[in-house]
Amino acid sequence: MSTRIRRIASLSGANALRELADSLAVTLPCDDEPLAAPHSPLAMPLDLPSAAGASRLVAANRFVVQPMEGWDATLDGRPTALTERRWRAFGRSGAGLVWGGEAVAVRTEGRANPNQLLIDSRNAAALGALRRALVSEAVGAPPVVGLQLTHSGRFARPDTSGARPRIAFRHPVLDRRFGIEDDGHCLSDEELRQLVVDFGEAARIAHAEGFDFVDVKHCHGYLLHEMLAARRRAGAFGGESLASRMRLLREVVTAVRESAPQLLVGVRLSIFDRVPHRPEPGAGAGGRLGVGMPEPHDLPYRDGFGIDAGDPTRTDWTEPLALVRELASLGVTLLNVTAGSPYYVPHVQRPAAFPPSDGYAPPEDPIVGVARLLDAARRAKQAAPELVVVASGLSYLQEYVPHVAQACVRAGWFDAAGLGRMALSYPELPADVLAGRPLVRERICRTFSDCTTAPRNGLVSGCYPLDPFYRERPEREALDARKREQRGASR
Ligand SMILES: Cc1cc2nc3c(=O)[nH]c(=O)nc-3n(C[C@H](O)[C@H](O)[C@H](O)COP(=O)(O)O)c2cc1C
Ligand code: SF4
Repeated sequence: MSTRIRRIASLSGANALRELADSLAVTLPCDDEPLAAPHSPLAMPLDLPSAAGASRLVAANRFVVQPMEGWDATLDGRPTALTERRWRAFGRSGAGLVWGGEAVAVRTEGRANPNQLLIDSRNAAALGALRRALVSEAVGAPPVVGLQLTHSGRFARPDTSGARPRIAFRHPVLDRRFGIEDDGHCLSDEELRQLVVDFGEAARIAHAEGFDFVDVKHCHGYLLHEMLAARRRAGAFGGESLASRMRLLREVVTAVRESAPQLLVGVRLSIFDRVPHRPEPGAGAGGRLGVGMPEPHDLPYRDGFGIDAGDPTRTDWTEPLALVRELASLGVTLLNVTAGSPYYVPHVQRPAAFPPSDGYAPPEDPIVGVARLLDAARRAKQAAPELVVVASGLSYLQEYVPHVAQACVRAGWFDAAGLGRMALSYPELPADVLAGRPLVRERICRTFSDCTTAPRNGLVSGCYPLDPFYRERPEREALDARKREQRGASR
């Protein structure tokens, strides 16, 4: 059954948003009006604990640009003009911290697509130039800039010759869904040990090229996130105990700290997950996608991190909060809290009014998903107050991003508010909010999901509906044609 969604743009003010949240039985702190600097909690500088021998780092405010990849690097993993355009926009945003720019693979095999950035000695200078281009756009104090390091694991598609996903363990639901038929895709313990070395080397390069921190990416279904759920995996890195499933995380963080002691270490973590969802069969009337529902699965459900085994549509907080505390004791200083995966539970990972082409109609009001993500950041901050905690999933709030972000930061729910899709449609939103300027309505992300649908169809990502630069690109027509075809196919 489809959920009636009250459009955010139709709300008459903060009070209406609060009433909507109440009617959905979720808690969503929300101020009456956004405040400008210096009165806004979002304008407070954020001190980052310094790494050994490094100078003190301060983010000028509490806005963060989330990592947003564009599927637009060269085949050998270097930035193109499109990549640079996006990073420059992030630099102009006015955000105090840029979390990673985008996912960068630490080895070829781990690239999510043939056009993902790759960090190695050949590409080092180009990545350094990208960082400098971003910083050169800053209007006030330059932002703190990290680089997100990844291996895409199950979702690695490093070349066009065929899918070569590498997995942590045989997952009964995801293997069926994504056509994994044999154990050959499983990374061996030996391969994981080599990966630890690769992460260390990537961190050394990132430090040499001037990045302030690296993010050891543990989210969205990619390899290091999947390892946290590897109960079915034998050997040193899997099994029932969380300590074994965290072994790779510990070894990677240690390698990163040893090879670049002056670099801060962050982790972007899918702190909870859900059983994979798919559109309700036969429900896609009128070319619409069916409503999302859980894929068939066995109970107890053992194959996700932070999932209640008895009811995998709920969170079990025991392991996630233990892991957060472990991060703090390992010397990680920044935690970016996200959840789920865009491939199998997009409504959890990026709440949206309009689903991407490979998704499903929202099974809940997206406000519920936003509130769940913000509450997760609150729990992480409570569990390890020494970590600098960044929240994700705010873009669906549209006009009310500043109202909610400032209320949450003031209440100490988390330290900083991350902007993902909004940073594509309207990168300068932080600068406008802090300067007390009214928001530019035509640039507010309405969660149309074209920036996800385009790469799912082999096209570069960008905000096709709202950014005139992408609206006028030839890919726009291809994207519209693809969407028409898919609507026809689901009739
Ligand atoms: C086009 C696109 C690219 C993304 N690229 C990345 C990425 O490289 N790394 C990452 O951790 N998350 C990535 N994300 C997820 C976002 O960082 C963010 O978590 C998500 O969009 C939800 O936040 P929002 O509501 O502010 O958009 C991407 C999302 C989109 C839509
Ligand atoms: S395409 Fe633009 S409006 Fe749509 S979700 Fe992406 S950033 Fe938002």
